[in-house]
Amino acid sequence: MKNIAVIGVGYVGLVTGTCFADLGNRVTCVDVNEERIANLKQGILPIYEPGLEEVVRRNLAAGRLSFTTSYAEALNCPEAPAELVFIAVNTPTGVDGEAELRYVRAAAEMIAQTMDHPLIIVNKSTVPVGTGDWVADIVRNKQPKPIPFSVVSNPEFLREGSALSDFMNPDRIVLGSLDEEAAQKVAQLYLPLRGPIMITDPRTAEMIKYASNAFLATKISFINEIANICEALGADVKEVAAGMGYDKRIGRAFLDAGLGYGGSCFPKDVKALAHMANVQGKHPQLLEAVMQINADARRSIVAKVRALVGNNSTHLNRLEGKTIGVLGLAFKANTDDIRESQPIDIIRMIQADGGTVKAYDPVAMPNAAKVLHNVKLCADAYEVAEGSDALILATEWNEFKNLDLARIKRIMKQPVIVDGRNLYDPPAMRELGFIYRGVGRGY
Ligand code: UDX
Ligand code: ADP
Repeated sequence: MKNIAVIGVGYVGLVTGTCFADLGNRVTCVDVNEERIANLKQGILPIYEPGLEEVVRRNLAAGRLSFTTSYAEALNCPEAPAELVFIAVNTPTGVDGEAELRYVRAAAEMIAQTMDHPLIIVNKSTVPVGTGDWVADIVRNKQPKPIPFSVVSNPEFLREGSALSDFMNPDRIVLGSLDEEAAQKVAQLYLPLRGPIMITDPRTAEMIKYASNAFLATKISFINEIANICEALGADVKEVAAGMGYDKRIGRAFLDAGLGYGGSCFPKDVKALAHMANVQGKHPQLLEAVMQINADARRSIVAKVRALVGNNSTHLNRLEGKTIGVLGLAFKANTDDIRESQPIDIIRMIQADGGTVKAYDPVAMPNAAKVLHNVKLCADAYEVAEGSDALILATEWNEFKNLDLARIKRIMKQPVIVDGRNLYDPPAMRELGFIYRGVGRGY
């Protein structure tokens, strides 16, 4: 059992802190957002993550998990002074594509000014290579009097929607530090999970995170490029991915063609890695192609809608007078996150083309309502379909897998479905009388 402080209660911090508490540690989470902390004290979560609420409530009740806005309370509690503090604040994209570090800086400064005993500072946020050294400099410079500390980089690999099981069943734990003893102390926290633990230097650990996410993003862009070619040549990308996936060197994971990658990590991390390369005078050609193909995946969905129901005009407003229904607003299923969401981008493109949009998502609508304008948010998929000229399947929620498609066909103005997630079977859709387009399903 260790005493741990976690800074930031977003997706990363809340999952990390809660899971460490569930493993028997005493965890205090601190955040500058007072409303989030007040709610969390009552077991009300700021995010939707399957299974998380129950584990938060259980650990709150057991007294292993607590929430505060006070760094002093989190770090220096007299009965349980923190031995380790995890930085898990957000690192949004800056104007040039770089990861913005102002929240990390603020957290490091607060730690330096508050700590009254030696600490291990663990960086969980995805930060540019070299940030570990930078955090150490900030803490050293901002401490009112010198107190020993170490910095360990410990990148997170949690997927939203399956973050709890990803935490509890890690493919690997990566730790980067120049202080072997500090790295070993962090490693001890993870021993119950029985995943492989790799200890390396901080820059390499930081790079492992970027390289991993960039590689997965590359797999997605690769299969989207293949999908494009499949469409032209009459092959089926789903079968192609299955056939490729049998090769252990390739693997089937992350070969789903569709709308390209969205979310708070891949878009930001690929951009940030390319930015780091450019700053060093390297030309990240592959990463640039990955980003271009990803942007095209969204455009190509709108192009399909235009081709199927658009007005025969060379001008803008090719979707004027048309109602397009969008099923799903989150960047993937099982999350309410709409950061870099493909459906939201697609909706804006349709609106720019003069189209009217109706949409539905099982959990992301409150978040989407904050950023969308003039979109009719509906109670379910059927309300979206009613009177629509075309439907776009944009997020692969389970509840869209078993829709009453015969009913959908009856209530749509035109039976046109553009399936951005390849959820449905093309011959079955044609059999039902739909004009159906998936992604890369050229037969
Ligand atoms: C990702 C990483 O997977 C995780 O390790 C961590 O570093 C945070 O970032 P996350 O963003 O939650 O997790 O989602 P992920 O499941 O990786 O999907 C990212 C995007 O790629 C989603 O928009 C998803 O729809 C898309 N995707 C994924 C595809 O288009 N095709 C695929 O085959 C897989
Ligand atoms: P992520 O997806 O990386 O976890 P989120 O945006 O979901 O990012 O959450 C980040 C959290 O960090 C937010 O709750 C935010 O209020 C919090 N935060 C940002 N800066 C600080 C800071 N200096 N101290 C404490 N919490 C912070």
